[in-house]
Amino acid sequence: MPVPESSIIVRTPVIDSIGELYTASGLGKKSVLLFDENTRKLFGDEIIESMHHQGFRTCELVVPARETSKSVTSAWKLYGQMIEAEVDRGWNLLCIGGGVVGDLGGYIAASYYRGIPVVQLPTTLLAMTDSSIGGKVAINHPLGKNLIGFFHLPKLVLIDPANLRSLPMREIYAGMAEVVKYGFIADRSFFDLLVSRFDDIVRLQEPWISEAVSRSAFIKADVVEKDFRETSGLRATLNFGHTFAHGLEKLAEYRNLRHGEAVTLGMACALFLSNRLGFLEKTGLEEGLELIGRFRFPRGLINRRFLSLEREELFSSMYSDKKKIDRQLRFVLLDRISHAFLHDQEIEKESVLQSIDDAKGWFSEKRE
Ligand SMILES: NC(=O)c1ccc[n+]([C@@H]2O[C@H](COP(=O)([O-])OP(=O)(O)OC[C@H]3O[C@@H](n4cnc5c(N)ncnc54)[C@H](O)[C@@H]3O)[C@@H](O)[C@H]2O)c1
Ligand SMILES: [Zn+2]
Repeated sequence: MPVPESSIIVRTPVIDSIGELYTASGLGKKSVLLFDENTRKLFGDEIIESMHHQGFRTCELVVPARETSKSVTSAWKLYGQMIEAEVDRGWNLLCIGGGVVGDLGGYIAASYYRGIPVVQLPTTLLAMTDSSIGGKVAINHPLGKNLIGFFHLPKLVLIDPANLRSLPMREIYAGMAEVVKYGFIADRSFFDLLVSRFDDIVRLQEPWISEAVSRSAFIKADVVEKDFRETSGLRATLNFGHTFAHGLEKLAEYRNLRHGEAVTLGMACALFLSNRLGFLEKTGLEEGLELIGRFRFPRGLINRRFLSLEREELFSSMYSDKKKIDRQLRFVLLDRISHAFLHDQEIEKESVLQSIDDAKGWFSEKRE
């Protein structure tokens, strides 16, 4: 079955041409706008004014800027506001914000009136390069994150890298983890660009930031198009570093550890594991670590969230969910820089533990 595609537009300013872009994508000009409190303040007035100027009718929704907004309770409340505003199947929904707004808005769009089109206007680096692309939308359940959701591809993804200027540095580095991940798994020339321009990108220098954002978004879109429902193992390579990262996030109870920070630490572990199992040569490992070494973390975070953990503790955290459903843990490994594969055989516990030790040793040496 052919997979529908989203159009991804990377442009500054993107909002000025939203009317034309909607028309070209067959979208009508009745749009529910979903913000969080921060993105409403930062971008709301300008976007709403520009859309009205371009002939749109809008209905505005705002949720608190936190992960708990991805809940059935807030979705229920928003459905009510949409019904009261007489939003019907002729409308679409535009999500303006980070991954929280994108996931929640996508979930609502997929379910409201059995589905209305969704458009993403991501405003964090993580959302521009990862969560707004690929059509996975979900809310959280008290028993687990992202468990209730749909595949609902956005018709359009509207990316304006200039919107990143107000984003705190910590969020930039968190988004950079996914950007660097694409260099590791998919594209050697992109990896080389990241090595030479890492500092320009995190400082949001043009043309490097736009180049990094659009290449990341297109790499993700390409992978998703080739393996939409995660059947061939290709889409799974987007989880490079994530098996370790999920263990770290769970131990931190998802507090005071950004997903991207966990992924950065997880990618270091995955590089060591790839090398230990004989897939990745030492030069590849060193090149990879050199790029990981560019990331900056809040003071004390690596110590609190990684170095002070017992390796067994992290290992059990990684395995806990999988045991419940009698599945083995799967790792994405590299056999060279920019080439990832899903390793689908059981890996000996000792090798996993040793790669955690290797990464811990490397991070603590670097700090000295
Ligand atoms: N659907 C997917 O494929 C996918 C992939 C990865 C992550 N996710 C989800 O994404 C979420 C995390 O997304 P996130 O990291 O973007 O977090 P977020 O949406 O919570 O945004 C982080 C913070 O930045 C603020 N913000 C947003 N844009 C800003 C800007 N331009 N300037 C200043 N502040 C701004 C937000 O208000 C928020 O406080 C998680 O819920 C995760 O599960 C989904
Ligand atoms: Zn991720």
